Amino acid sequence: MNTLFSRFAAVVDSGVGGLTVLADLREKYPRCNFLYLADSAYCPYGTRSEADIRNRVHSVVGWLARRNVAAVVLACNTASLFADSLRDRFDLPIYDVVAPTCRLAAATTVNKRVAVLATEATVRGNVYPKLLAEYGVDAVQTACSGFVPFVEGAAVDTDACDSAVDNALKDLPHACADTVILGCTHFPVLRDKIVRYTGSARIVQCVVDFVPPSVCLSRRHGKCIFFTTGDASAANKASEFFSKARFVHTDI
Ligand code: DGL
Repeated sequence: MNTLFSRFAAVVDSGVGGLTVLADLREKYPRCNFLYLADSAYCPYGTRSEADIRNRVHSVVGWLARRNVAAVVLACNTASLFADSLRDRFDLPIYDVVAPTCRLAAATTVNKRVAVLATEATVRGNVYPKLLAEYGVDAVQTACSGFVPFVEGAAVDTDACDSAVDNALKDLPHACADTVILGCTHFPVLRDKIVRYTGSARIVQCVVDFVPPSVCLSRRHGKCIFFTTGDASAANKASEFFSKARFVHTDI
């Protein structure tokens, strides 16, 4: 058995967006060892077909399971659509971001109306409206897949990114939502631009109900290692918003 990563909890995204979730996990669990995997070679997930995303996410989690990681955090809403099918197939704890984020948004909204900004695939999957309805909350979804390449290309501070945000969000104030879910883990990187369209609404970033496996806990500071299926230097550049990510390429 390959035990190289048996003391690591894996955090997975299509790219560097999931680092926004990892930052939170590291703060909460500083003694936990994390392996971050950016599937940059297949990024973006959000504009692909359901079958393509499902197959790819199963391959990625299979790769991690064969390396015997102790848990998997799907730090990606689009991948989280397949959380149940992954749980059925792999015998390890798999955490997703959608259900806990809905719970947080439902506890935040007062007027019971939440705007969800997400990828095309997440919007199509309709998972946020379904789960929020269980809390008696209405969801208004906006597909913003076009934001992802700006984060991956380290091009957030450009006029082109400003116009993409303006095009996608100019009607957001009409949604009358008092809470906005950043339903793609890349979007907190554009938070300063997004808040120009959210008025007084509260912003909810993705959260996860993670329980660190005891085998992953170091005595002092946990280790963090970073893999990308794409170009390591591009991932390093795109992840400058997150300190100390040094990616190594791996094929999956
Ligand atoms: N970060 C991902 C999410 O949370 C998806 C980005 C993409 O690959 O389209 O949905």
